Amino acid sequence: MVSFSALFVSGLMATVALAAPHQAHQHLHAKRNATSAKKGAAYNEASLVAALTGVSWAYNWNMEPDGTLPPGVEYVPMLWGPKMYSGWSAAADSALSSGSKYLLGFNEPDVASQANMSPSQAASDYKQYMTPYAGNATLVSPAVSNSGSAGQGLDWMKSFLSECTDCQISALAVHWYADASLTDYFKQFVNQAIELANQNNIQEVWITEFQATGDDASQVQFLTEILPWLDSQAGVGRYSYFMCSNSVLLTAANVLSQIGQAYMSLF
Ligand SMILES: *[C@@H]1O[C@H](CO)[C@@H](O)[C@H](O)[C@H]1NC(C)=O
Ligand SMILES: *[C@@H]1O[C@H](CO)[C@@H](O)[C@H](O)[C@H]1NC(C)=O
Repeated sequence: MVSFSALFVSGLMATVALAAPHQAHQHLHAKRNATSAKKGAAYNEASLVAALTGVSWAYNWNMEPDGTLPPGVEYVPMLWGPKMYSGWSAAADSALSSGSKYLLGFNEPDVASQANMSPSQAASDYKQYMTPYAGNATLVSPAVSNSGSAGQGLDWMKSFLSECTDCQISALAVHWYADASLTDYFKQFVNQAIELANQNNIQEVWITEFQATGDDASQVQFLTEILPWLDSQAGVGRYSYFMCSNSVLLTAANVLSQIGQAYMSLF
């Protein structure tokens, strides 16, 4: 208990420490800033990313950064879905010539309110719009939800990959939302994604959106357990907590929330 709460400055973890963490984190040390190769920012306002000192990459569900990211933060463009096809080639070329090394595929094509694409349509469109960049960038798959329903989540991804065997995808993207207490489910889901990636000769998994549901203290505790785990998994390439906004990781420009401070802690 004492060692757990002593890891964090300013009483940040006081509430959580009182809530009896079921694991000791002896290897953790005090919060400090440094670049994490895996940690990213999912943002809408580029100016807010400056508060997340130490993220190595950022994306905004868009093809262009819509503002200026801090130096050293790699912008990763996304081909969100069919509504972006007409502007994609100019935007991708521009991002790559500005230093982007990766391209993200469709956003939640398995969800009706998001990109909403069948695995077949997505595979065919991926080959047309993404695969031509395989020699110029590292290609990330569409990002699916953690829905366990047939035709969604990893089940959608499995169908997509079976039709996209020649798409030259190097990273598999997933999203995860569930209660903050479900850390085992989070790890199980990411491990299933890594297994599916491995079966398809895809090197790594990116968790491009994830958020634990619960109050601030619950989310802090979730991140405290999950971040060291993510950083230690060889199969995890990159991750970004949802999201870099004044309602989650920040409370105002340049002011990290408790959740934001936990996200930026190094373990
Ligand atoms: C760490 O980052 C915070 C917020 O981005 C910043 O205010 C602080 O000065 C940084 N600390 C160090 C030691 O660089
Ligand atoms: C990839 O880069 C080469 C060399 O710069 C360029 O000629 C080619 O058009 C690029 N491919 C795409 C799809 O932009």
